[in-house]
Amino acid sequence: MSSGDRLPTPALALFPAGDIRTRADDWLTRELADACERVVRGPVMPTIDRTKLRRELAGFDFETPRPLEQLLAWTLRQMEHGVVHMNHPRYFGLFNPAANFPSQCADRIAGAFNPQLASSGSSPAAVEIEAHVIRAIARRAGLAAESAGHFTSNGSEANYTSLICALTRAEPRFGSDGVRAFAGPVAMYTSRECQPAWFKIVHQAGVGRAALRLIGTDGKGRMDANALAQAVARDRSQGIVPVLISTTAGTTGAGMIDPLAQCAQIARDNGVWYHVDAAWGGAALVSERLRGLLSGIELADSVTIDAHKWFATTMGCGMFITRYPHVLSEAFHVTADFMPSNVTQLDPYLNSVQWSRRFLGLRLFLSLGAAGWEGYAAHVERATEVVARVKERLLARGWTVVNDSPLAVLCTVPPAGYPGIRDIVRKVLESGRAWVAAATYEGRDVLRICATHGEATLADVEELVAALEATA
Ligand SMILES: Cc1ncc(COP(=O)(O)O)c(C=O)c1O
Repeated sequence: MSSGDRLPTPALALFPAGDIRTRADDWLTRELADACERVVRGPVMPTIDRTKLRRELAGFDFETPRPLEQLLAWTLRQMEHGVVHMNHPRYFGLFNPAANFPSQCADRIAGAFNPQLASSGSSPAAVEIEAHVIRAIARRAGLAAESAGHFTSNGSEANYTSLICALTRAEPRFGSDGVRAFAGPVAMYTSRECQPAWFKIVHQAGVGRAALRLIGTDGKGRMDANALAQAVARDRSQGIVPVLISTTAGTTGAGMIDPLAQCAQIARDNGVWYHVDAAWGGAALVSERLRGLLSGIELADSVTIDAHKWFATTMGCGMFITRYPHVLSEAFHVTADFMPSNVTQLDPYLNSVQWSRRFLGLRLFLSLGAAGWEGYAAHVERATEVVARVKERLLARGWTVVNDSPLAVLCTVPPAGYPGIRDIVRKVLESGRAWVAAATYEGRDVLRICATHGEATLADVEELVAALEATA
């Protein structure tokens, strides 16, 4: 009990004294660096015994406090041996990068200050920094000067936001009455090579999974624009209301780019919101050599780009950018007199799905600030070089490359004498020598290899190819 003029001591385990924090921070910095060095020399795959882990976890009943140093050491062991290592240079994996260093610094800063990014009143500097980065990316994409947006937890949230904007613009009464306000059932269109989070998005937005039209592709993984136009026309003739067309610039499976400008025209002809999901491929905008591949993105009503993919920031750090910021304000406005500010088109809580939010944009601000467009271009172009080297070596050994992506993803199938794709993947992962994925491209099982590590070397490429060959 405390007396009237004294408060209880703060919980010291949660808020230790400054010198203890500094010691723990220093220890952590050193241990993390050592662990990351060991990771690079070890297997890509986790090696932990899950039964043992569950037993150990059962011991954490949270009745008896443990020393923080012990907890930190235990956690580092689990991370070192208990996850697939995205920071291993032979993770040729999904769009999960080895995180760049400036973004890791950003996480430390955000963790220490813990600014609340909901409102410009709480965090004027942080909100301005984020808005600045979003505008810079919008300009780089060639979007109109008035374009704006915000950082999201990930690409799925950004894509979800595009559907909410599309519905909000299509029907003024959507905000009050939901999809009941539309004259008929609504539909949205993307290709069958889309990222599958769209299924969840139509579900959670309340338009229903039946509203998702998966348009066929052209045999090369790109949306067939004629099939898109026909599907929209067919739906309209049946009283269905098309609200959103979403193309993909860098498909998840094969890195293919839909015909962006052609689909933009179809959207415009039909008065439909046009979104470009460039979650991964959007990073090509930084490169003078590659940015032309995304030509047509400037016609988008909205764009998704994930910094935690090819921009290689820590996860998750998505971006939603739109040429119509007022639609965001219309969709996400609220009145909250307890909030420290109420600035339409600036305060993130008035323009986005989230309320409380972390200072995500600092990751890209520091990364772009440190590397500049040119430094980032070197990173992105290097990834395409890594994949080109893998391609050369596999072609020389009789493998076939089935996708024609100018970006850093390769879909390949082996010559005779190899097991099925899924067995090849299983054997490579079991070897721990590299990480590759099985995927489906144009209805066919393929091996998917993506350059995600900014420091992969030719020796890593050779080791990957050797690991693949060893599966024959
Ligand atoms: C093209 C594309 N869009 C959206 C997403 C979803 O992004 P996130 O995993 O950040 O939600 C992905 C994920 O790989 C993707 O490849």
